[in-house]
Amino acid sequence: MSTYLLAIVVSDFTYLNTMQGDTLVRIWARRKTIEQGQGDYALNLTGPILDFLQSYYGIPYPLSKSDQVALPDFYYGAMENWGLVTYRETRLLYDPETSSNRNKETTATIIAHELAHMWFGNLVTLRWWNEVWLNEGFASYVSYLGADHAEPDWNVKDLIVLDDVHRVFAVDALTSSHPLTSEEDSIVLPEQILEQFDTISYSKGAAVLRMLSDFLSEPVFKEGLSSYLKQFSYSNTIGSDLWKHLQMAVRNNNISLPCQVDSIMNRWVLQMGFPVVKIDTTTGKISQKHFLLDPENNVTVKSPYKYEWIVPVRWMKNGDVSGDIWWLMEKEAVNLDMRSGSSWILANLNVTGYYRVNYDLGNWERLLAQLLSDHQVIPVINRAQLVDDAFNLARAQLVSTTLALRTTSYLSRDTEFMPWQFALDNLDYYNLMLDRTEVYQPMQEYIKSQVTPLFLHYKNMTSNWTHVPEKHTDQYNQVNAVQTACETGLTECQDLTSMWFKQWMDSPQLNPIHPNLRSAVYCSAMAAGGEREWQFAWSQFKAASVASEASKLMSALACTNNVELLNMYLSYTLDPAMIRKQDATAVITAVAGNKAGQSLAWDFVRDHWNYMFTQYGVGSFSFASIISGVTARFSTPAELQQLEDFVAEHEAAGFGSASLAVDQALEKTKANIKWVQQNKQEILDWFTSQIGLQKS
Ligand SMILES: *[C@@H]1O[C@H](CO)[C@@H](O)[C@H](O)[C@H]1NC(C)=O
Ligand SMILES: *[C@@H]1O[C@H](CO)[C@@H](O)[C@H](O)[C@H]1NC(C)=O
Ligand SMILES: *[C@@H]1O[C@H](CO)[C@@H](O)[C@H](O)[C@H]1NC(C)=O
Ligand SMILES: *[C@@H]1O[C@H](CO)[C@@H](O)[C@H](O)[C@H]1NC(C)=O
Ligand SMILES: [Zn+2]
Repeated sequence: MSTYLLAIVVSDFTYLNTMQGDTLVRIWARRKTIEQGQGDYALNLTGPILDFLQSYYGIPYPLSKSDQVALPDFYYGAMENWGLVTYRETRLLYDPETSSNRNKETTATIIAHELAHMWFGNLVTLRWWNEVWLNEGFASYVSYLGADHAEPDWNVKDLIVLDDVHRVFAVDALTSSHPLTSEEDSIVLPEQILEQFDTISYSKGAAVLRMLSDFLSEPVFKEGLSSYLKQFSYSNTIGSDLWKHLQMAVRNNNISLPCQVDSIMNRWVLQMGFPVVKIDTTTGKISQKHFLLDPENNVTVKSPYKYEWIVPVRWMKNGDVSGDIWWLMEKEAVNLDMRSGSSWILANLNVTGYYRVNYDLGNWERLLAQLLSDHQVIPVINRAQLVDDAFNLARAQLVSTTLALRTTSYLSRDTEFMPWQFALDNLDYYNLMLDRTEVYQPMQEYIKSQVTPLFLHYKNMTSNWTHVPEKHTDQYNQVNAVQTACETGLTECQDLTSMWFKQWMDSPQLNPIHPNLRSAVYCSAMAAGGEREWQFAWSQFKAASVASEASKLMSALACTNNVELLNMYLSYTLDPAMIRKQDATAVITAVAGNKAGQSLAWDFVRDHWNYMFTQYGVGSFSFASIISGVTARFSTPAELQQLEDFVAEHEAAGFGSASLAVDQALEKTKANIKWVQQNKQEILDWFTSQIGLQKS
């Protein structure tokens, strides 16, 4: 057993227990939380997930007991110590009275993630930290399968596209990205090890393993995995050992691949980034190139594969799925079936491949027309993909910004969560860059007009906000509807949230706000309210006995527009009696996310840098998020100058686990400046035309 997996907990916690087959399952936590039933969900979930994993891996759970413990102050989200998994309270505990469905999903997926490590990572451990991605990517991928087994109604497997695949595209499209694997001897210092635990390892790792499982087919993937785990039980491996066992499974099952598993995977693992595949439906020509968010930034790191990938392409024509995968093996190839005439082609079905897709303009027009006439013909994951790909292709100057904006036109008729979430995420970037300019007003008007039907849809579905939507993703999208409608100034929404918050202030023992909606409602109420509302929320935050409730209030406290309150709130992060050390970075990042708080947070970080660096700089995951958080809006030459000054001032001491984040912040700021210069007018014109205010 590897030493990093040992844990000993000394506590006066109490526990719940049950037997799952021969395995003793226990959930440990503070007595009060157990008495309130907050451990019940984890207890009920663990058995089914263990069962699923035993059959997925084809190997019984290796230990006689499975303890999971919720710690009140814990830096990491969770840690897969063998047989004694440690969690933050928010991650393991679930209180149906106060926790949202997102809390519930997080609990389910994180338990599945940690338990997946009991085999992959613990029973078989990678030889060194340069291959952390395989461990974390694997557990992240399998967490969706485990959660899906425990909660089959959720469709949670689709959400990997949102929460991992497209999320990590954003980072992996920068020239400061890095390959999944690095050289063994380049990872020596503790902070170098910590830096391996980044979104590339977790999310890109999960994405490429999902792609692999898709093109091998799940049974073949499982067979190879199981034989790998059996052969190397209680010992160490390197990544290529897994490829060997998958290759054996490919041979046993006569799966036809264009080349060996390791030849395909090395392209995705040993070089950073990913391709954009361009399909020209007039000629059938298909080509690939390294996708960079800022095409003028040159890649200085050489790749042994020249930034070309072996790409599996699943596609459909006018809604009909072409059965087989078509492989793009070189920079450019021709597939005459993809010459489509008046039909549309859509590639990367369900985004099982780790790449973006671009088309000739004619095909884009046909796809947009399909969205407007009957969007349901296009699978929901791909509607989301079209929006996100278009916005990012526009960022990279491969399509026009107007084309990207036009993918949102049909949304007033779509009520599905994923397309909305992608649109809102992308428009959020527009907000960050432009909400201090004249674009703000017409943009708000446009988004308000698109979201109003969605708001009314949920009002109707919930019988005037008295019921909870049945579908998991509807519960999510209801939150989007309320949050966006309130933010963009829909009066009916603002009246509703203010009324709910007032009811709560009038009788603090009886919170009338449904847990799913609390984050949105609290934030809206803080933004609309003053000191009285803020102090009420602060006292509720300090009094909250459920960690997830405290966490919602903690984020909402950063939504006020009152500068004095924001500064006071920032100063609390220096005092662990006010804000726990584990939460300090989250508070600073939340304040920076508020238009009114951005510059305050940046000043605060600069003023207290030495304190933060010594407190968090070396040993923390979330330290890097301070840098990305406070610089997220940077889009002017003056802000770039401030950032460069800051970097120069502290270069000698280094940036610890935030070093990569600092490089990324510099690159992003430069890209933002250029983007605003190039796009502001076009965006202003488009929004203005949409709300019918354009004056000739
Ligand atoms: C990238 O390379 C081109 C051509 O070599 C050069 O003109 C350009 O300035 C470089 N861009 C950056 C950001 O260094
Ligand atoms: C795409 O995903 C949906 C929803 O998960 C599923 O029903 C459908 O079968 C998938 N399509 C393909 C071609 O795999
Ligand atoms: C509300 O929903 C019902 C069915 O649930 C439907 O018949 C009705 O037309 C809807 N009303 C509006 C305004 O959408
Ligand atoms: C919906 O609820 C609000 C607030 O509770 C109430 O004022 C309004 O009359 C209700 N509308 C309908 C149609 O029931
Ligand atoms: Zn993990």
